[in-house]
Amino acid sequence: MSILITGGAGYIGSHTCVELLKANYDIVVYDNYSNSQPESLARVKELAGKDFPIYEGDIRDTKRLAEVFNVEKIDAVIHFAGLKAVGESCVKPLEYYDNNIGGTVKLLQIMRNAGCKRIVFSSSATVYGSENEVPFNENMKVGGTTNPYGTTKLYIETILKDLYSSDNTWSISILRYFNPIGAHESGRIGENPNGIPNNLMPFIAQVAVGKRPVLSVFGNDYETKDGTGVRDYIHVVDLADGHVKAVTRLLTKTGLDIYNLGTGIGYSVLDIVKTFEKVNNIEIPIQIAPRRAGDIAVCYADAQKAKVELGWTAQRNLDDMCRDTWNWQKNNPDGY
Ligand code: NAD
Ligand code: UD1
Repeated sequence: MSILITGGAGYIGSHTCVELLKANYDIVVYDNYSNSQPESLARVKELAGKDFPIYEGDIRDTKRLAEVFNVEKIDAVIHFAGLKAVGESCVKPLEYYDNNIGGTVKLLQIMRNAGCKRIVFSSSATVYGSENEVPFNENMKVGGTTNPYGTTKLYIETILKDLYSSDNTWSISILRYFNPIGAHESGRIGENPNGIPNNLMPFIAQVAVGKRPVLSVFGNDYETKDGTGVRDYIHVVDLADGHVKAVTRLLTKTGLDIYNLGTGIGYSVLDIVKTFEKVNNIEIPIQIAPRRAGDIAVCYADAQKAKVELGWTAQRNLDDMCRDTWNWQKNNPDGY
């Protein structure tokens, strides 16, 4: 079985490629390297000890993408390609709508024309908005996203639902990720953000390696145990394994299913800092800063549906996530 991975050179994509190859899937990667480097895929090949075809291209380039479906036999697609920076999406909404929504529509059209109707889509817990009570489950109302990035995820979910209503021979799996962190235990692949990291763990890693002097903690007056924001952090290799389970299920059934991929456990910003310090024996200086616009106090998953239907649960704990992040960062201080 051969799986096309759009955005396969990126953070989650590269880890998923390794796990798919380990599970004996054939893969084909399609990426425009707008937020990644070819080196990540060279390392995927090294880790898996296997070769696979790579196409440099944009999902909006229909000619190029159609060519891939002509040349390769594709049984299903895992669709990671997209832009993901919340702040940037507020400055460049049209680029986000074009790349994420426009790109996905083009991909779906080409898949339909090629008769390939199985797709796993990277969605986000951000679609739960700020009105729901934790833990978030898949039956809750979605909406109320606070930035164009989040809105692209919400709209793409809607597009996929409309597509399935129009043609129920599709197999669609929407995966709502909580907060992926960590890296492959080898330290060979990991998250490689451009510029100043927006997200907590990459920022901590850059403080640890001496690139940034201090971590700003965005708010200590939330209604949480220590006042700092609480999130459901999930090891990226567990997340990758969730994709293997989701795509395996897609190959044997039609339907549209939505799954949370999280651990179901919430940790505060200070929990993360303290655990990183303990596991890696490094001090992380912090300063308390104002709340960040658009943040919610608490976000964690009800992860039961993925457990029951996909047979998937996260295996790695917060110590593993902090250890593997640091192993990647210290071995690759400047990324790839
Ligand atoms: P990433 O930026 O590391 O990977 C995305 C990849 O897609 C990159 O390699 C990039 O070059 C490629 N890409 C972007 N636009 C493209 C296009 N038009 N054509 C071809 N390739 C293109 O991001 P990631 O963290 O690996 O995230 C993967 C997916 O998961 C994204 O869709 C993201 O929105 C979603 N997601 C990520 C998180 C997270 O915290 N990392 C959380 C929820 C959802
Ligand atoms: C953010 C995005 C979300 C996206 C997710 C994964 C926002 C508002 N939300 O979620 O849409 O799906 O990333 O990419 O950006 N924090 C600090 N200091 C920092 C960075 C973060 O204190 O320097 C805090 C935040 O306030 C939050 C927690 O750490 O409480 C986690 O933040 P982050 O890693 O950015 O993830 P989310 O905000 O959950």
